[in-house]
Amino acid sequence: MAVKAYDLTGRTAFVTGAAGGIGRACAVLLAEAGALVHGADRDATGLHETAALIKDRGGIARTHLLDVTEHAQVRQAVESCGRLDVMAAVAGIMHSSPVLDTREEDLDRVLDVNFKGVLYACQEAARLMISNGTRGSIVTMASGAVDTGGPGLLCYGVAKAAVVQLTKTLATEVGRHGIRVNAVAPGWIRTPMTDRHDPGAQERTEALMSRMSPLGRVGEPDEIAHAVLHLASDASSFTTGQILRPNGGVAMPW
Ligand code: NAI
Repeated sequence: MAVKAYDLTGRTAFVTGAAGGIGRACAVLLAEAGALVHGADRDATGLHETAALIKDRGGIARTHLLDVTEHAQVRQAVESCGRLDVMAAVAGIMHSSPVLDTREEDLDRVLDVNFKGVLYACQEAARLMISNGTRGSIVTMASGAVDTGGPGLLCYGVAKAAVVQLTKTLATEVGRHGIRVNAVAPGWIRTPMTDRHDPGAQERTEALMSRMSPLGRVGEPDEIAHAVLHLASDASSFTTGQILRPNGGVAMPW
């Protein structure tokens, strides 16, 4: 039996949130695997840095400056690809507030970016794949927050739970077109998001993880990118509607 390859030569991938953190790691790794990568983000500077990283490594990158909450912008960018084999819907924001202090506008903003932004990317990718007859792979970004509550995680966790539902539902609807849809639910990963989250949170979480996680550490963006590459490639050809949990053995350390 031949080992199925992680080679994406000749394929086209679209990555949202490509300006930094996990999205940048995904864009760079998918390009290293041979894909032409379309990176999308609202951060122009970070986006161009990612494109430069890809080009430095001999890859091909296109950039789309957009806001994932604007459906028309997402549609235009995805349609401009002409063909799409992989969608990695990674863009997201962190929000933390206790349930009793949570305002409607907090919930709306987090749902807009972390759920609707993913929904629009999935809808437009699936439409393009179906119209071209492409047996593509769609990967969404959930979170360990879907497996455990946590202080302040109401808005973020609700949005990520919705991403899981979207992933499982869409997988049942597009499977007959040969399109697979899976989610990655990372544990705590060292990125600009977790650095920004609150002063000291990164250090506290690293200390917690060193005691409570089987692997005894937080994760790196590159480790999540490899989970995305697995789901994007033919190596996972019989996997759909699933949640892959690269989390060092623990969803969240509380
Ligand atoms: P990050 O903040 O480092 O990167 C997020 C990227 O998304 C940024 O480049 C940002 O500009 C972009 N973005 C945010 N809102 C946008 C919008 N409306 N339109 C276009 N682009 C937008 O965050 P990180 O940590 O890399 O997170 C990436 C994804 O992974 C998120 O969905 C996050 O919820 C998820 N995640 C992260 C974990 C972590 O520990 N870092 C754990 C579990 C999930």
